[in-house]
Amino acid sequence: MQSVLVIDDDITVRDVLNEFLISEKYRVTLEENGQTGLERLRKESFDIIFLDLAMPVMGGMDVLKAMKETQNSDTPCIIITAYGTVKNAVEAMRAGAFDYVTKPFRLDELGIIIKKALEVAKLKKENIRLKRELRKRYEFHGLIGSSPEMQRVYDLIEKIADTDSTVLITGESGTGKELIAKVIHYNSYRSGKNFVPLNCAAIPKDLLESELFGHEKGAFTGAINTRIGRFELASAGTLFLDEIGELDPSLQVKLLRVLQEREFERIGSTKTIKVDVRILAATNRNLEERTSEGRFREDLYYRLNVIPVHIPPLRERKEDIPVLIEHFLKKHAKAKKRQTPKIPKHILEVLLKYKWPGNVRELENLIERLTILNPGQSITIKDLPERFQNLAPASRNSQTAVSGTEDLSLPPEGINLNNIIDTIERKLITEALEKSNGVKSKAATLLGLNRTTLVEKMKKKGIAITSKD
Ligand SMILES: Nc1ncnc2c1ncn2[C@@H]1O[C@H](COP(=O)(O)OP(=O)(O)OP(=O)(O)O)[C@@H](O)[C@H]1O
Ligand SMILES: [Mg+2]
Repeated sequence: MQSVLVIDDDITVRDVLNEFLISEKYRVTLEENGQTGLERLRKESFDIIFLDLAMPVMGGMDVLKAMKETQNSDTPCIIITAYGTVKNAVEAMRAGAFDYVTKPFRLDELGIIIKKALEVAKLKKENIRLKRELRKRYEFHGLIGSSPEMQRVYDLIEKIADTDSTVLITGESGTGKELIAKVIHYNSYRSGKNFVPLNCAAIPKDLLESELFGHEKGAFTGAINTRIGRFELASAGTLFLDEIGELDPSLQVKLLRVLQEREFERIGSTKTIKVDVRILAATNRNLEERTSEGRFREDLYYRLNVIPVHIPPLRERKEDIPVLIEHFLKKHAKAKKRQTPKIPKHILEVLLKYKWPGNVRELENLIERLTILNPGQSITIKDLPERFQNLAPASRNSQTAVSGTEDLSLPPEGINLNNIIDTIERKLITEALEKSNGVKSKAATLLGLNRTTLVEKMKKKGIAITSKD
């Protein structure tokens, strides 16, 4: 049996909904104000919530926002609104409500909305489950990240891993290009064969040709023995050509031929060797730009860029920072047999503000360093390297003056002070009223105001005033 929570101060509405929902075989719970409604949402899960917007003590908008912090964060919420106040309902939908119904209800309409909400919720759950499974699978390969950007990368890997398509992985240094290449290989039918990496920038060009294609004994001075190259080593497996943007033009031609014909000769040999190799390439350069500059062959670029996989820099997917930190803390504490250092909230905020030019590698190095230098300790700003120092909020010891504001700072683009003060006042007044069960004198004490001032502020801001006290 599916469960519905109705939060409305109007007894007639509660009665009508109760009767209708019971007749439709739903289990119904009724709450007569926002505050008790929210308490209920913290304790129990529901399949659908009906929520009135205009209620004393705590309005529907506040319930809607607070609901996101409860186990019901994904439960569809249907707003109950009076004729003529649809504007508010639309605002509520912007804040995440599923839909709205206007009073007086048409019962058939109500039935349809409920069915639609349940269907959408089911699809959403299914989608979340699938996404989570996918994420778990990649976590297994050490690939961490839950941001929408990484989800997109996972979705793409999922589609291309088990094909023979050539993939060009792009992204700044340290974004995880090599890791992604490995994950693609280990999720393909070639996973039982070799994954052979070759860094095109690390090997001098004279040696690189022989690294790639191998050579026959006596092919050049120093070729004492016959040697097979990486193409042959990767036979039936995957060859990962890292930093492909640095490949010398003479080798670009040779690589192009292998990509087209799937055949080559060892240096010093005339025998053509056929290979079955999947090519993955990576670069932190803008290859297209290099192409237009004439430094990279256009035809090779198109051969490589059959499927582009771009990994966004870490600063564009900050959501991944906390999960990566957690992952690296565990990894390095285990590897170094140290206790994990603790990263308090204000330090995490500093790490979230930082631009991470070295991306995930830089983050991993930092966590490794903290694990070695500060095992088991709570990290302070002084434990972080110099480049993080100016990111800390200005003064953390001014708490005597205004406690709770120490993390405030003026963003470079400026702010609207009046709006911000209004938002803060509203939030704190609502919270104080909630804490004191709507008793205004108590709320006023909590806020360090006298009762008259509080009432004036509430009137000005249109915060519902009840008869309580
Ligand atoms: N999403 C991720 N989850 C877990 N570890 C990651 C992730 N991305 C990168 N790393 C780690 O960060 C380090 C750098 O990754 P990798 O070598 O794959 O980056 P890269 O893009 O190839 O860098 P470069 O361009 O400098 O060669 C590695 O230790 C890798 O395991
Ligand atoms: Mg790399």
